[in-house]
Amino acid sequence: MEKTLILLKPDAIEQNLEDYIKDLLEESGFEILREKRLRATKTQLEEHYSHLVDKPFFKDLYNYMTRTPLLALEVEHPNAISFWRAILGDTDPRIASKESLRGKYGKVTEADFENVAHGSDSPESAERELAIWFG
Ligand code: TYD
Repeated sequence: MEKTLILLKPDAIEQNLEDYIKDLLEESGFEILREKRLRATKTQLEEHYSHLVDKPFFKDLYNYMTRTPLLALEVEHPNAISFWRAILGDTDPRIASKESLRGKYGKVTEADFENVAHGSDSPESAERELAIWFG
């Protein structure tokens, strides 16, 4: 079994996608192991997005990610990391397939991408990110 971190971002919360996404996870064979609603701190976001802190859009990413509390989920599935990222679609909602979550519900603002949810990109990232959000 493989674990991954999912973050439902503020645009998912604002579009009331929580129940829809949880149902989708269940139908897709994911098990939710832990769940936590929290407002992201600056430290958490700087650690989580350590590869992006120097980018010009980081300030906008920070403002977006702190607009509402997030819902963090630790989920398990035999192929959790790549399957969840396939369901999510490309980082850029303009490129994401129209059937994917980001293709359907994401948008591009002047400043950054609002792309609904996060999924870890490797087992190492999952372990690192689960520690950031669940302690
Ligand atoms: P990244 O880690 O590259 O992608 P992913 O979330 O698909 O693993 O980027 C993290 C977040 O930063 C991304 O979900 C949205 C935001 N972002 C932008 O707003 N603009 C950009 O050009 C990039 C690359 C990311």
